[in-house]
Amino acid sequence: MSAVEYAVENEVAVLTVAYPPVNALSLAVRTGLAEGLARALADSGVKAVVVIGGGSTFIAGADISEFGTPNSAAEPRLQTLQAQFEASPKPIVAAIHGTALGGGLELALTAHARVAVASAKVGLPEVKLGLLPGAGGTIRLPRLTGVEVALEAVTTGRHLGAVEAERLGVIDAIVDDLRAGSVAYALKLATDGAPAPVRDRNDKVSGVDPKVFDDFRAKNRKKWRGQIAPARIVDVIEAATNRSFDEAKAYENQAFGELMASDQRKALIHYFFAEREARKIPDVPAEVKPLPVRKVVVIGSGLMGGGIAMSFANAGIAVKLLDVNAEALERGMAAVRKTYETSLSRGSISQAQMDERLGRIQPIGGYDDLGDVDMAIEAVFEDMALKQEIFALLDKATPPHAILGTNTSSLDIDQIASATSRPDKVIGAHFFSPANVMKLLEAVRGSQTSAETIATVMALGKQIGKAPVLAGNCDGFIGNRMLQYYTVNAEYMLERGATPEQIDRVAEAFGMAMGPLAMRDLAGMAQAVNVRAVRKKTLPVDERMPELVERMVEAGRIGQRSGSGFYRYEGRDRLPDPEAIAIITAEAQRQGIEQRTFTDEEILARLFHPLVNEGAKELEEGIAIRASDIDVAWVNGYGFPIHTGGPMFWGEQIGLDKVLETARVLGAENGQTRWGPSKLLERLVAEGKGWKDAPALIAQGL
Ligand code: CAA
Repeated sequence: MSAVEYAVENEVAVLTVAYPPVNALSLAVRTGLAEGLARALADSGVKAVVVIGGGSTFIAGADISEFGTPNSAAEPRLQTLQAQFEASPKPIVAAIHGTALGGGLELALTAHARVAVASAKVGLPEVKLGLLPGAGGTIRLPRLTGVEVALEAVTTGRHLGAVEAERLGVIDAIVDDLRAGSVAYALKLATDGAPAPVRDRNDKVSGVDPKVFDDFRAKNRKKWRGQIAPARIVDVIEAATNRSFDEAKAYENQAFGELMASDQRKALIHYFFAEREARKIPDVPAEVKPLPVRKVVVIGSGLMGGGIAMSFANAGIAVKLLDVNAEALERGMAAVRKTYETSLSRGSISQAQMDERLGRIQPIGGYDDLGDVDMAIEAVFEDMALKQEIFALLDKATPPHAILGTNTSSLDIDQIASATSRPDKVIGAHFFSPANVMKLLEAVRGSQTSAETIATVMALGKQIGKAPVLAGNCDGFIGNRMLQYYTVNAEYMLERGATPEQIDRVAEAFGMAMGPLAMRDLAGMAQAVNVRAVRKKTLPVDERMPELVERMVEAGRIGQRSGSGFYRYEGRDRLPDPEAIAIITAEAQRQGIEQRTFTDEEILARLFHPLVNEGAKELEEGIAIRASDIDVAWVNGYGFPIHTGGPMFWGEQIGLDKVLETARVLGAENGQTRWGPSKLLERLVAEGKGWKDAPALIAQGL
């Protein structure tokens, strides 16, 4: 069966792309469209053509899984098809529902008009794959929207809703009945005459002041740190304003080729598939259907509980926010309202959206009214006895089918589940702060959590716009377990003579939003001291906890809010502080540690290699299912730069042997028990293998 169906309706040929799941422009689709167009042009009974998507969407772009295969370069290539569209003597209308993304929108931009339903979205998201739109998108989009809109839309890769897209000139008409409306539109063009192809509409790209581009580059320099694609996108959009169409196209082709060959493109495409793969759980077959979740209760109205409640409300799910402390509940609701008001004042939501979302959050003061919830998420502070008490109450108050989730970041899921009569329905649902913003949802399976419970939480995570990752039950789960190696190592390096500025500069140049020491200062250190005191008791005998945080707190330097920590602060400006350095040096002397200088390269290795080593240990222990799941967790929960593909992908790119070497050094320095090499890593390096081989090695036994 062809990937494109041909039918004639009212003297209009309707080409329906039927290539699930997203009608990507694979060779089969391109061939089908070229054949369909040729047939329509040859058919004297046809006056115009409509291209429409079968199933849930128009064309979601190039077929990413085809990149690098012979099919991607085989004719008809997308650009050949586009030339045929633009040369067509019969008008072509792109009929858009679902999404028209990347090459899908670029193809639509070569049609004579674009008609959409109001729920459709269009966009050029290639930047998220480390690419730029390589089929004329950078040249045609600004011809419709003007340069400034195109710069913003293409460098962010944002999806534009159809209503906005119509206002911006990308969509020509919005209709209710897509097929009938598009056929009628096409016939009208056949009768009245079609407009000039987009490529020939030059008014919005003529006489553009080059300063627009320089200003845009300057404004975004910091945001794009470390990424190649956004800056190249600005270059090619600029070329669309000062070169002929064909010259600009040649330049776009060249830049696209460069990006296609880049490591960042490989990393970002790895990440794209990783996020989708993470939702597939090997022992939860597709036949296990997730339960519908229509109403949720969140217990605890603090920062975390409020953020979780907003995540549901934003996705259209009704939520009760429960707190037995009336004052806390009031404060929690006020904080939620304030967050929405900030979004409103920034223009990111409308008043109607704010009212609707707030209206979905019902504050409640007790457990009497939970008979209608499908899921509960407990988000109170980390105290096992309290959590068990709450789970016992929830077990009684919620219907038997309801899933009971805990937002704990470290406590044992099984112990929490033991307070209920339904341990199969208990699961960790670990959100990251601020929960309404951060994308990671770490689902944590206990020993009795059922497949249905897991399937439900993974599906729910996607539904509320999160990136769900399934973790096993251990201290710190996937993410926090690795985090300590990063933060503690920064302190070890300070003791040995590196400065806070140097460490943070290296981390930030790598792409972290904020270096580990600036982060400590921002988070505040007073509370960290208590957490560390507990952790210290559980450390293996061969390991020493650095005590710089303790020394800072003793000196009254508890972080940014107090005006000083590892840095001193003037307003928000962080400044190097000789006093902090003196405290660090004194502590190094007290510990008998000799100080030395570090190269940036060594700092980078010591900050990030241990993450990869610990990730490998999580794979060994079955805490993480796949290396790529760890990447998804770290990109979304900890701001690991997405253009590296995540720590595990990055580790493999730079060489697992290098990671192993660092683990050997740090094992010797900091204690073998926790810092020494992972057995899996040793085996992979010894056998010249990579993460894809890990499951087989683990199954054999390390
Ligand atoms: N190519 C190949 N497979 C794709 C794909 C694409 N462009 N887009 C989605 N898929 C696959 C996914 O891998 C997933 O497969 P599995 O079910 O096997 O995991 C399936 O389609 C469904 O995808 P989602 O789970 O993401 O479904 P969704 O409904 O949540 O989202 C979507 C749909 C918005 C289209 C989203 O998939 C998406 O954003 N896709 C990428 C779009 C994109 O980046 N297009 C540009 C491609 S590059 C390009 O076009 C270059 C050029 O200039 C020629």
